[in-house]
Amino acid sequence: SYPEHVTIVDVSPRDGLQNEAMTVPKAVKQTLINDLIAAGVKKLEATSFVSPKWVPQMGDNSELMTALADSRRDDVIYSVLVPNMRGFDNAIAHRPDEIVIFGSASETFSQKNINCSIDESIERFAPVAAAAKAQNIKVRGVISCTVGCPYEGEIDPSQVAYVTKRLVEIGAEQIGIADTIGVGTPLKVQRALQAALEYADISMLSGHFHDTYGQAVSNTLAALQMGVSEFDTSVAGLGGCPYAKGATGNVATEDVVYMLHGMGINTGIDLDKLVVAGERISEFLGRRNGSSVARALINK
Ligand code: HMG
Ligand code: MG
Repeated sequence: SYPEHVTIVDVSPRDGLQNEAMTVPKAVKQTLINDLIAAGVKKLEATSFVSPKWVPQMGDNSELMTALADSRRDDVIYSVLVPNMRGFDNAIAHRPDEIVIFGSASETFSQKNINCSIDESIERFAPVAAAAKAQNIKVRGVISCTVGCPYEGEIDPSQVAYVTKRLVEIGAEQIGIADTIGVGTPLKVQRALQAALEYADISMLSGHFHDTYGQAVSNTLAALQMGVSEFDTSVAGLGGCPYAKGATGNVATEDVVYMLHGMGINTGIDLDKLVVAGERISEFLGRRNGSSVARALINK
């Protein structure tokens, strides 16, 4: 049976924009976030507190959070990515509702993305998770490359189980299973989720599927069938990771919302308003809207 309600986490302000070559002004990011909230999005990744040398596009993290402060809503969860205590110290002034620690099921991707091994990353995350909990801030862990890695190829589900175990041990309340480069197909994604279930309850798991090979909606359905009820998606299908060459954006929020509503599953999101949000940011970026559903609705 399917869940009655699914939580959509729109990651476009972070995952969607982090890879953009052109500097996206803070005001544009703010408009995107406010458009998403106006469409009914209740959880979003606002930015990341990573090194600006590694990801210049997120270099305005503090300024953006300051700009958002006046319009922050109590019924919206503003999440931020934090790789280490330095990032936590910068983020905490802005009282994010949730911090996201992000590890990897692939050793090589861990090195390329956060410059340390999987075990070292857990050592860095542990004080971050503890500090967040001490301040009543939610902690989510996301695991990259749970199906495939741009450097190592296929990833064994036992790696996913291992990293899930370590993240749960240090206090992650939720675990995101990410297909960073979008190579997954439904049964492989189910195997990755199954591995995570060795150490986490189904209610803790969320899906984060990139759409590089056009499989992300199918993979979302496969996860839904296992009982996963939270998904990271990106409006207009924006996104990619600077350290995963060739990977395209996350599954488009519009496409997932259309599927869910068509199945009678509630999201609280107004699809027409969501399309407006996606169109506005696509126009700014000079990009064709990456959502099939948005294009269909616009051309209707
Ligand atoms: P490092 O160079 O090993 O770190 O980077 P370090 O501790 O040696 O510090 C080096 C310099 O960075 C120092 O500055 C630090 O102060 C500074 P310097 O003395 O040279 O002037 N620094 C920082 N500055 C600001 N904020 C910080 C911070 N930490 C250190 N938090 C580090 C290690 C983790 C910092 C770096 O590798 C990094 O920032 N990586 C982030 C990469 C990233 O953001 N990738 C994209 C997000 S993950 C993703 O997209 C996948 C996901 O969507 C799921 C999926 O699809 O798979 C989540
Ligand atoms: Mg991603």
